[in-house]
Amino acid sequence: MVGIRKCLFPAAGYGTRFLPATKAIPKEMLPILNKPLIQYGVEEAIEAGMDTMAIITGRGKRAIEDHFDISYELEHQIRGTSKESLLHDIRNLVEHYTFTYTRQKEMKGLGHAVLVGERLIGNEPFGVVLADDLCEGEGKGVLAQMVELFEKFRCSIVAVMEVEPDEVSKYGVVAGKELEDGIYVVSDMVEKPDPEEAPTNLAVIGRYILTPDIFEILRRTEPGVGGEIQLTDALKTQAQEGMVLAYKFRGKRFDCGSVDGFVEATNYFYHKFKD
Ligand code: G1P
Repeated sequence: MVGIRKCLFPAAGYGTRFLPATKAIPKEMLPILNKPLIQYGVEEAIEAGMDTMAIITGRGKRAIEDHFDISYELEHQIRGTSKESLLHDIRNLVEHYTFTYTRQKEMKGLGHAVLVGERLIGNEPFGVVLADDLCEGEGKGVLAQMVELFEKFRCSIVAVMEVEPDEVSKYGVVAGKELEDGIYVVSDMVEKPDPEEAPTNLAVIGRYILTPDIFEILRRTEPGVGGEIQLTDALKTQAQEGMVLAYKFRGKRFDCGSVDGFVEATNYFYHKFKD
């Protein structure tokens, strides 16, 4: 069986929560230790068996393309020195995997960003990684866990975790019936609900496996919360017309789109590195 080959990275957002750092640098390029957030995401996708990265960029995001490319001058400069090993991993990614790009010209939401990626993905199931959610799976990566589940159920899957009830308004929230331990058949999804209106405290984090009929659904999805086309709303339609699973992943997730989460991730990976 052919696994999932492609992974979409919506990376056009402005990263306003990290200004001024993100004025000229894409937020996806902010490093945790010495590696940019998006590279962690790409490595997770590769571990899940994917070989083609479809990156949705926007104005001011060219550093991402340069990162996943050869830098002849730099490589020439450090060849034969002790620094050479620092480029080993990224050079390996650039040599063995495919990076494709398209620009989202207007910021109309995550659902819109995914739709912009339709041409890069085509008619096949695909992964989605929001790089500012940095995940470390237990045993295997979060996307790899989801691919395994996809092979059994062949439907869209969202990764979820329990959050404090007063935090639900930052997330897409799901409700559903537990099918197996930690796997739910989604019956409802709400983007950024008020805590009083949230159906549960199961929050979607930035890992998805989507079947390609999501594109057709996104095309008929009206703007929702914040006037944006929400992936959550399209997934709710997909759940009602077919089936969507929510999967409580095994592992950790850091919200690197917030300063607190970013610092937490930095400390966590620093201690791991030191050990
Ligand atoms: C997006 C999604 C939301 C999800 C979140 C995970 O929101 O719209 O459903 O829970 O990512 O990080 P954003 O953080 O882009 O506002």
